Amino acid sequence: MRRLDQLLSSLGYCSRREAMAFVKEGRVKLAGVVVKRSDQRVDSALITVDDQPLEAPEGLLAILHKPVGYACTHSEDEGQTIYELLPSHWVDRNPAVTSVGRLDKETSGLLLVTDIGSLVHRYTSPKSDVVKVYVADVDHDLDPTLIEIFAKGDLMLRSEDKPCLPARLEIVSSRTARLTITEGRYHQVRRMFASQGWQVEKLHRERFGPYELGSLPKGEWQMLEVTT
Ligand code: URA
Repeated sequence: MRRLDQLLSSLGYCSRREAMAFVKEGRVKLAGVVVKRSDQRVDSALITVDDQPLEAPEGLLAILHKPVGYACTHSEDEGQTIYELLPSHWVDRNPAVTSVGRLDKETSGLLLVTDIGSLVHRYTSPKSDVVKVYVADVDHDLDPTLIEIFAKGDLMLRSEDKPCLPARLEIVSSRTARLTITEGRYHQVRRMFASQGWQVEKLHRERFGPYELGSLPKGEWQMLEVTT
């Protein structure tokens, strides 16, 4: 049970002070009955605001189909950010919604967003072996020898001291490949191709762990069930 004003402010609905006004205006109900005090302790599952249940009171997890041109950052200095594509009150939650790892500004595709710290840690820790699937368009025809080079597990990237773990490369057409990796090093896919002389011109993530984009349109998000 949590104090109502704390609960509403932590979910990004309003400040604790504004919660008083919400209550005064009769907008908040507990099991269908108008709540009288903003400092009352309540069960979040029974609260409605404007007759709507609270949004993800136990933690929010969603997928975003990130378009090219949006940065995965809370900083305002980097032009358009993914947070412009999400409801603004998600960033007002405490903890704020954040991306699980990052995609480069010029990469599109599946990005998880959440306010559940343990999930971020689980999916981004160096020990995490979550599968990520990328489709890369490259600048000249692919060579099938890349399949073995990426699969061997001894590919060293510049200024790193450990080789990349084995990765699966599938050549889809002369200049398009699907790459499956289980790590998340900085610019990993672009650097893996660059190490062999190919420039990645277009990069899209179609899968992250158990999640796929399906038919989610570019720039849109979809709430997921949390199964922690
Ligand atoms: N690898 C990259 O090079 N860029 C990304 O955005 C993700 C993986």
